[in-house]
Amino acid sequence: MPDLDDVPGRRRLLPLLDSSRGGRSAMTCRYRCADACAHEAPNTSDNAYFGDVVEAAVSRRGLLRGGAVAAAVVVGGGSGTLAAVASGAGDPADTEGAARAAVPPRPDHPDAPEYGRPVGFRPVGDNTLDAVVVPNGYDWSVTIAWGDPMFRGAPEFDFEHQTAAAQREQFGYNCDFVAVYPLDRRFERALLWVNHEYTNEELMFRGWTGAAGATVEQLRIAMAAHGGSIVEIERVGDTGEWRPVDGRRRYNRRIHAGTPFRVTGPAAGSDLLRTAADPAGTTVLGMLNNCAGGTTPWGTVLTGEENVNQYFGASADVTDPETAARYARYGIRTTAGTSRAWERADARFDVSGEPNEPNRFGWVCQIDPYDPRSTPQKLTALGRFKHEGATTALTADGRVAVYMGDDERFEYVYKFVSSGRFRTGQGDRDRRHNLALLEDGDLFVARFTGDSPAAEIDGSGRLPSDGLFDGAGEWLPLVSGGESAVDGMSVEEVLVFTRLAADRAGATKMDRPEDVEPHPVTGTVFMALTNNDRRTPAQADEANPRATNRWGHVLALDEDGADAAATTFTWSLVLVAGDPDDPSTYYAGFDKSQVSMISCPDNVAFDPSGRLWLATDGMPGSVGANDGMFVMPLDGDDAGHLRRFASVPVGAECCGPCITPDGRTALIAVQHPGEEDGASPEAPASTFPYGDQPRPSVVTVWRTSPTGGPFIGD
Ligand code: FEO
Ligand code: CA
Ligand code: CA
Ligand code: CA
Repeated sequence: MPDLDDVPGRRRLLPLLDSSRGGRSAMTCRYRCADACAHEAPNTSDNAYFGDVVEAAVSRRGLLRGGAVAAAVVVGGGSGTLAAVASGAGDPADTEGAARAAVPPRPDHPDAPEYGRPVGFRPVGDNTLDAVVVPNGYDWSVTIAWGDPMFRGAPEFDFEHQTAAAQREQFGYNCDFVAVYPLDRRFERALLWVNHEYTNEELMFRGWTGAAGATVEQLRIAMAAHGGSIVEIERVGDTGEWRPVDGRRRYNRRIHAGTPFRVTGPAAGSDLLRTAADPAGTTVLGMLNNCAGGTTPWGTVLTGEENVNQYFGASADVTDPETAARYARYGIRTTAGTSRAWERADARFDVSGEPNEPNRFGWVCQIDPYDPRSTPQKLTALGRFKHEGATTALTADGRVAVYMGDDERFEYVYKFVSSGRFRTGQGDRDRRHNLALLEDGDLFVARFTGDSPAAEIDGSGRLPSDGLFDGAGEWLPLVSGGESAVDGMSVEEVLVFTRLAADRAGATKMDRPEDVEPHPVTGTVFMALTNNDRRTPAQADEANPRATNRWGHVLALDEDGADAAATTFTWSLVLVAGDPDDPSTYYAGFDKSQVSMISCPDNVAFDPSGRLWLATDGMPGSVGANDGMFVMPLDGDDAGHLRRFASVPVGAECCGPCITPDGRTALIAVQHPGEEDGASPEAPASTFPYGDQPRPSVVTVWRTSPTGGPFIGD
């Protein structure tokens, strides 16, 4: 196993890519988001770049509060990081037919490391190796890879002879969000949830000449490789390693582009969602482009449909101006032609014939991993946009807040607050109640204001005279008390065309909001703003302070009163990423000569010690090193001391990540290894993980050193 931490330190390692690609190869851009960066941003609203609004008396002065950590909010479950820990109420797998969670999660674990535990590993250096690299004292293994059979009798992966029928019973392609759900109180068996965001047919099929030349079977293989997977896993001995169970796999499930979903919430049954195949507007086949996600306090998966525009196209031009404008705001092609050609396998993807089908994608989906027979849901109450993910916190009065980013240049950050309260009971009625909590509530979008004079925010990234990029903000209502809060739009219109509603509300245009996730103890909400190379100096504001921002930043938001239901907040930037030698970067005030270089933060997670973990998507093109996983302590003298824990192979982005609640395992999704321009099955750019064709994989990392402690980060 590679176990190399003595990779040289910071240096430029690769020729940098065209900046229009947001730090990734042109191939990645084509398949992941249909070249979103190459097009003008769909947000042409005249919403202010908030500029020079000065808010008085901003109380918060940066994230890194050195003092004691108070349980300011009660958090039931964040992302997969601290999700779903067995409380000992029983093993659902041991109850015939129960097959659902009998154990609500809680954000701690009896054997977890203490809060504020120091980091002990030597950081992994910048590198361009075609390998997963972890620090000395750690090991890793492939837990599951694209094509691995998931059911009894499912065929073994055969790259040369793949079929749609086989793919529907095998692990899907490009893995992204990862979460773990316990199956026993000792946390020795669990369910692994993984998103399969998109497919790259150039790397999946020999002789690929483009979608127009694809066979219908190839299109169906791609459809089957999308979606998500639930995999029963078990711990290997007494280590932190996990592997799929051998034998009984009662929970295993593949969700793909043909899986029925129930539409829930206020837009269910809307005229805007009705199609010929679904005249009721309540049942949708499939979920698409699921990127990140989160875990609910009741142990379900939330997963966000992101760049769904690319799956739809028109065989004839769309001429109705209102329809065309709505499509345009979501980046859906309105002139004849499609990029994936799925309409050749299934006519619903042709918007000329089925204009509402795109409205049925772009939602947060809820999936119950403990009930393999359950129907997944699309949650219309949470709005429709390019959902990166969705993470939860409980409000002071026990309702559920969901934080969400819309991942595109100049898009917005959203929050949903449920009407009903979370029930901690274990009964069927409690569970049904909780499973319906996200069907009704208020939806908000964020407006940020800065506290420094506009003249001090010049787009260079230079800190203003008060020493912080910081300020205040408010959550602007879009739906409130069951009514639309946006003039001229009905509730259904606000939820189906949420971007247009947020434009009218006056939201702040951000630098690609990716993961937005509350800290499980402090409640501070961290959001990754991954990059935006199109922001001009005139458009720079204190929350997005760099023009041509190719490296991204991380913003920390504190709700007023430490209540996730608040409608006002304060915020500050804790990381302005990029080469630490670049004066525009800021590593939470820590000595930049001591930190690892990070760029393009995408995924956010927390470990049981309360540390912030970041995974990146775009380091190769922005700073010339492979993407990776980083940790940043938030408290004490080490606060802001960012260190690279792992790097992923050539062409890959680092996704997940997930630290298990016992602190002994890190799960990383190695997405799109080998996705480099010019790569093909005949000339792969990566051979990860098995030395032949690259296969997107989930890997498990654990501690092996007998000294220093057993926990991730030791
Ligand atoms: Fe799929 Fe926002 O990254
Ligand atoms: Ca300031
Ligand atoms: Ca992402
Ligand atoms: Ca990404």
